[in-house]
Amino acid sequence: MYNYRKVTDDLYWVGANEHRLALFENIHPLYHGVSYNAYVLLDEKTVLVDTADWAVGRQFIENVTAVLDGRPLDYLLINHVEPDHAASIQEVLLRWPDVKIITSPKAVILLHQFGFQIDAGQIEEVREGDTKCFGKHTVAFVSAPMVHWPEAMVTFDTTNGVLFSADAFGSFRALDGKLFADEFNFDQEWIDDARRYYTNIVGKYGPQVVALLNKAAKAVGLDNIKMLCPLHGPVWRKDLGYIIDKYTHWATYEPEEKGVMIVYASMYGNTEAAAEVLAAKLAERGVLNTRLYDVSSTHVSYLISDLFKYSHLVLASVTYNLGIFPPMHNFLADMKALNLQNRTCAIVENGSWAIRSGSLMRECLECLKHMTILDDGVTIASSLQSQNLPEMDALADALANSIKG
Ligand code: FEO
Repeated sequence: MYNYRKVTDDLYWVGANEHRLALFENIHPLYHGVSYNAYVLLDEKTVLVDTADWAVGRQFIENVTAVLDGRPLDYLLINHVEPDHAASIQEVLLRWPDVKIITSPKAVILLHQFGFQIDAGQIEEVREGDTKCFGKHTVAFVSAPMVHWPEAMVTFDTTNGVLFSADAFGSFRALDGKLFADEFNFDQEWIDDARRYYTNIVGKYGPQVVALLNKAAKAVGLDNIKMLCPLHGPVWRKDLGYIIDKYTHWATYEPEEKGVMIVYASMYGNTEAAAEVLAAKLAERGVLNTRLYDVSSTHVSYLISDLFKYSHLVLASVTYNLGIFPPMHNFLADMKALNLQNRTCAIVENGSWAIRSGSLMRECLECLKHMTILDDGVTIASSLQSQNLPEMDALADALANSIKG
């Protein structure tokens, strides 16, 4: 049975929700599902904007068919060809063989790489600044390289201010029957999923996201964007400034909040106990916006997400095989891969002999841009002892002063 929703008088959401997928991109856990969004515009010409993952292909095709209600499909506009959006293209071509594809030249290359059988005469390549009229609606194409693949573009409907924003402004989490961000308490229910999506999927490409925001502001004016229609998560029709502000923070690696994230790697609980002591000492100093994470039991996508939120990071790690405990090493590698920068950090190291995790973690942090590493740190031999407390107090003081400064 079809299950679409009306976005405007002549624009329909024809996407679908996925609850069975355990790992997005086969790496990021999904506990609340994800939506694959696609849209149909019913103008003098009919236009399908992007497709959907094959996992929801049947629902997607039923939705498109129902919205078209017997009309032919004139155009398939492809903003992004990653398979979570492009996998159903071949099915669309089978069902509507006369459809014309509108997309970027780089997307055409990738479509062929992925093995889609498309006649050259069926493709209309568009470039930055090109426009296309479908009747009442004229759209403009804006390239969005690396947001989050090189071929990506966004499409702005100059007639009604709808921006089809591809992966930008997307989010993890299925829609549960709703569609618009104002149908949820987004700031309470969704922001963590939106942040985890952005930071892990697009986080590496902050400069490109900033470039896209600047380009959109210059080309169409941010005030002229009335609606954001992303490829995942809810549609934004109100309070667009809220999500644009979040994106601006994330894309520029500016923390959202002053707070301390303590991530510990502990084999037998001793490094964990030291992390708990530090958190208590911070609380005694009035630093209450703190979060503790066990790096072994927390998926790294959650750590990355909170790292984009908080201003301060404490890494506490046992030494393992004369190196950094592997899950902590993985976290540090992910920070670098995602271009994380501009945080204030401190280090707690532990080991029963040849303690090296501190100096090695420092080396990793020094490879990141604009990181401040506090001189105060703590070295523990096996377990925290009373002689370590002055060092721990000094570290808590330094963090408190940095937060309040
Ligand atoms: Fe949701 Fe880059 O695909």
